[in-house]
Amino acid sequence: MSGRVDGKAAVVMGGGQTPGETIGNGRATALLLAREGARVIVVDRELERAEETVATIRAEGGTGEACAADVREETQVRAAIGACVERFGGVDILHNNVGASLALGDAPATDLDVATWDRIFEVNLRGMWLACKWAIPAMRERGGGSIVNISSMAARSAYPLVGYKTTKVAVIGLTEYVAAQHARDGIRANAILPGLMNTPMAIEPRVAAGTPRAQVIAQRDANVPLGRKMGTGWDVAYAALFLHSDEARFISGVSLPVDGAGGVAGRG
Ligand SMILES: NC(=O)c1ccc[n+]([C@@H]2O[C@H](COP(=O)([O-])OP(=O)(O)OC[C@H]3O[C@@H](n4cnc5c(N)ncnc54)[C@H](O)[C@@H]3O)[C@@H](O)[C@H]2O)c1
Repeated sequence: MSGRVDGKAAVVMGGGQTPGETIGNGRATALLLAREGARVIVVDRELERAEETVATIRAEGGTGEACAADVREETQVRAAIGACVERFGGVDILHNNVGASLALGDAPATDLDVATWDRIFEVNLRGMWLACKWAIPAMRERGGGSIVNISSMAARSAYPLVGYKTTKVAVIGLTEYVAAQHARDGIRANAILPGLMNTPMAIEPRVAAGTPRAQVIAQRDANVPLGRKMGTGWDVAYAALFLHSDEARFISGVSLPVDGAGGVAGRG
């Protein structure tokens, strides 16, 4: 292990993954943080998904614990942060990865119903705020910490579904708020904006909806300027590793696209 986050105590919210053929952003990030020396609490609504991630961390010689929590429930979010304090003595890193669009029933603004709008905001935005709410005091006690919130290039482009679009813009607002208000606590907060990624979250719902897998992949690949191929969960994980490490100690409040130049080419 090269130890870019050696000894740090980390919580990865949504560190399991949607089942599929490739690795998800959250799982890749949890694995990479552990490879680089962090002790990781892997949190997921589906405990077995978190346990799969932890099994790999341990098989690779790292330190991890699985924790079941639904980010919609404040008591469960608080307990997940508390598990990191109890098990590893504090919280240095909070990685807020939970988010979904199609899987939550997102739709165009004229088709969405109120209950679905509320559910998308609870999962994609309120959950990230709740994790910040409980992690910030723990980080303050340590003299600082790093928060990364996963937004999306949907925040910067003409994404067709209103719940995802608006929550991912708001995630940037939350990130800037925390960066500004908690800089004097030594806490950094940054957002990552993944673009077109070859992850189960992106591919499987479209395959399940009836488009052949090869077609889904080919269409998405064709819209990526850099190398004409989607990114992977590892691309997001390496950006997160940098932002969580002390190499980024003077960087806070940024929104980092990880999108193969999709945004600058108008393909985000
Ligand atoms: N994959 C992409 O193409 C892409 C593109 C842009 C942005 N993103 C963002 O990346 C993040 C997720 O990427 P991923 O590849 O890790 O997805 P993923 O679906 O593989 O992993 C997310 C995990 O979160 C868990 N989860 C869902 N709802 C939860 C809840 N209420 N409480 C606790 N856990 C819950 C799921 O069980 C899953 O294991 C999201 O924020 C998403 O918006 C993804």
